[in-house]
Amino acid sequence: MDKYNASAVTRAPLDRLGRPLRDLRLSVTDRCNFRCTYCMPREVFGPDHAFLPKSDILSFEELSRLARIFVALGVEKVRLTGGEPLLRRELPVLISQLSAIDGLRDIAMTTNGSALVQFAKPLHAAGLRRLTVSLDALDDGIFRAMNDVDFPVHRVLAGIDAAVVAGFAPLKINMVVKRSVNEDQIIPMARRFRGPEFILRFIEYMDVGNTNGWRMDDVVSAREIISRLQGVFPVDPVAPNYPGEVARRYRHRDGGEIGVIASVTQPFCRGCTRARISADGHFYTCLFASEGHDLRALLRSGMRDEGITQSIRAIWQGRGDRYSELRSAATILQPKAEMSVLGG
Ligand code: GTP
Ligand code: 5AD
Ligand code: SF4
Ligand code: SF4
Repeated sequence: MDKYNASAVTRAPLDRLGRPLRDLRLSVTDRCNFRCTYCMPREVFGPDHAFLPKSDILSFEELSRLARIFVALGVEKVRLTGGEPLLRRELPVLISQLSAIDGLRDIAMTTNGSALVQFAKPLHAAGLRRLTVSLDALDDGIFRAMNDVDFPVHRVLAGIDAAVVAGFAPLKINMVVKRSVNEDQIIPMARRFRGPEFILRFIEYMDVGNTNGWRMDDVVSAREIISRLQGVFPVDPVAPNYPGEVARRYRHRDGGEIGVIASVTQPFCRGCTRARISADGHFYTCLFASEGHDLRALLRSGMRDEGITQSIRAIWQGRGDRYSELRSAATILQPKAEMSVLGG
């Protein structure tokens, strides 16, 4: 670590609720080849939808520079997201650049798995060590209906196999559970992803963005998910890996881990140390924020690292977000950034 970085760490900022800045989620594209009904419904993200032009998207150099600045402010973990991050060309090159950052202990990525057969190996070779695949159903009909582009489940399953072979085990699998849509997939998914190679996480369906027509009635609560599982596969709670961990962990009695992400019924804002950067370089202090702070303008203005560091520090110190704790009929109607822009 150079001198400048070392002094910055000693001045790691806390937000208004005393939360440090620990995780950085970098969205590398706002595009996706899926149209999951709860994230990018095709009525909104149709052929006429204006995605970001290339010139608006941060280059790998800009992303790496930002990551370096955030690491100097205390970030230890970077997660690449999208849209679908593997639609960004030459993504392994970015991973190599991030791998070279001193003090960055963990580089992870969340993907829909559609391109993993091709990319699992090069990503691992470039230094990616943790991978999460989103998969909402094993049943091919349900999966095709949920991704809404008729993508067959066997291709994601082949991608998951390729990821395990490439060295990504234990691989996390994220399943968003939506009432009457895929709730009957809870048990088949638990059966398929039991064992040491996988950590399956059930996610409560959230009111992110403005387009998915969210209703509380569509949420299957973590409590209900666990009680359904207990009937078939008994599980016991396990302590968190780190303070503020998003998922509540459980262990199958005969080995293997699962998790539930109860962002609606048991919010975890108190321990939220996550900063998000959209593909066009806006800094969001909450998944449910309506607006971001334009860091791209600073990057492209010729400002030096010290100035950008100061701006980020000031934004973090002013942060009071705790949307999920305050969620109410009124907050649900507030305008929010889209999930495909923020990467979850
Ligand atoms: P690790 O613990 O590093 O493995 O990752 P993670 O569980 O934090 O990351 P992941 O991206 O897999 O998060 C899983 C899901 O939890 C996301 O897709 C979101 O749906 C939800 N989630 C993650 N972070 C937040 C958050 O800050 N707020 C809310 N409300 N939901 C979140
Ligand atoms: N509620 C909960 N999770 C969601 N994701 C996308 N939209 C929602 C939603 N409305 C999840 C995806 C993926 C991650 C990027 O975010 O399934 O795992
Ligand atoms: Fe794409 Fe993931 Fe959103 Fe589905 S949830 S549309 S795969 S970004
Ligand atoms: Fe963090 Fe906002 Fe999610 Fe709360 S709702 S955990 S503050 S991102």
